[in-house]
Amino acid sequence: MSSKIEVVICLGSSCFARGNKNLLKTITQYIKDYNLHDRVCFHGAHCIGECADGPILKVDNTMHTHVDEVKAIEILDRTFQS
Ligand code: FES
Repeated sequence: MSSKIEVVICLGSSCFARGNKNLLKTITQYIKDYNLHDRVCFHGAHCIGECADGPILKVDNTMHTHVDEVKAIEILDRTFQS
């Protein structure tokens, strides 16, 4: 069995205030909807020092910047539905 894909949401105050508060719900719901619990390790992180480009989302060490809900779904679709 392959290892889980790591999805990290920045929960630093800047990213959290700029949209990651909602992204947290969106991603949690996505994982539930597609029953991805066995394929993903989803967790939060402290500020990673890229606040100016936030909200930040990392998927398997690839950093995505200025992530809104639409972009987050696109990233998750590319990662899990292909
Ligand atoms: S709060 Fe997210 S990079 Fe600083």
